[in-house]
Order: sequence, then C-alpha cells, then structure tokens
Amino acid sequence: MPHILAPSLLSADFANLQRDVELIEGSEAAWHHLDVMDGVFVPNISFGLPVIKAIRKHAKKPFDVHLMIVNPDQFIGAFRDAGADILTVHLEACTHLHRSIQAIKAAGMKAGVAINPHTTVRSLEDVLADIDVVCMMSVNPGFGGQQFIARTYAKIADLVELRTRTGSKALIEIDGGVSAANAAQLVATGADVLVAGNSVFGAEDPRAAIRSLSAF
Ligand code: DX5
Ligand code: ZN
Repeated sequence: MPHILAPSLLSADFANLQRDVELIEGSEAAWHHLDVMDGVFVPNISFGLPVIKAIRKHAKKPFDVHLMIVNPDQFIGAFRDAGADILTVHLEACTHLHRSIQAIKAAGMKAGVAINPHTTVRSLEDVLADIDVVCMMSVNPGFGGQQFIARTYAKIADLVELRTRTGSKALIEIDGGVSAANAAQLVATGADVLVAGNSVFGAEDPRAAIRSLSAF
C-alpha cells in the first residue's frame, strides 16, 4: 500500500485557511491533519470545533483530528459533528482509554491513539487490535517545526512487530519533524501515514513539497 500524506494545518496560514485547505484538496495528499490543543495537555493553544466546522465545507478528503487535550471523552460527539473522520486521543490523557476508543467508534469515526515520545509502544498492546491508527509522536506535542527524534525508527520497528503479534490492522502514523530528509526511511521502516506541517507550509512551494513527500 502506498503511504498516506497528511499535511498538518497547524503550519498553514490561519488568515487563509480556506486557501490552504483547498491546496491540500487539489494535491496528492490523502488526508487533512488537524491539531487541536488546549493549553493544558500541551503548552500551546491552536484551534477547535468552530474552525474545523468552517473548513469542513471546503474539503472532501478525510479529516484526521489529533486531540492534544485533557478529558477528550466529553467532546467526542462534538468533533464528529464538526466533521472529524478519524479522531485520535492521547494515551497519556485517557484514564479509561479502551472506553474512549469504544466511544469514538460508536460515534461512527475511526479511532486513533497517539503516544508521546516517552511512551513505549508496549503500552498499546491491549488496545492495538481495537484501533485504526496509532499516531506516534516523533516530537513532543505542542508545536510545529520541531526537530525529529531519531529513536522513533526503533519504535516503529517495535510497533510493526506488535501489530503482527496482536493481529491489528492499525495504520502507523508518524507526527512531528517529518521532512524530505527522513520520509523515505520512515516509510521503509513501516510508517503508513506521514504528517507534515512545517515541511509543507513552511516550504517555498507547498504543492511541490507535498508532491515530493508523496511520490516515492
Ligand atoms: C505537534 C503536532 C503536529 C505538528 C507537526 O504537536 O501534533 O501535527 O503540526 O508539525 P511539523 O511537521 O512541523 O513537525
Ligand atoms: Zn498532530
């Protein structure tokens, strides 16, 4: 299966969000990646439900919504109504992670679980068969444009092994510091989805950046 590219709108021009959403729509990228931050789980605030709802009207491709918020359970239905197709919660933010996964699926979305750089992939063992996406953070969440953490390669290899052992079909998504310098090696190691913010919207030519991160 060819890998999926999910540009992160966190690095888009927030004064021109419609333009940047349409840029993704007209590109080789398959998903939109939307980073929701609450200033509590992560030391930054981004955007939330009304913004997602507003840009949904200009997009047909799936919305991959990455919740970096505490107590995500209380907003599952609201994010579905705003237009999320894949809803990802952080393992570190969920006391009853399995219940959160069930609630996301019951609301009609695909369920993702994100893990911070310090969280071992082994902690996913008992939920891996129940989820659709693992969002493996390759930076500490909260900001775009950070440096990729090289330990991620070993974690991808561990997750590929765990996925086989548990019979899971979850996609492995890598989020943070992805660029032309590491994209091919990430996919060769086992990544199915690459999130890219700064390397797309910080580029001189975002369309060309999407093309080069998609076509290999
Ligand atoms: C980080 C977010 C990422 C971020 C990636 O907290 O989850 O999705 O936008 O940005 P880059 O690709 O710039 O590291
Ligand atoms: Zn993200």
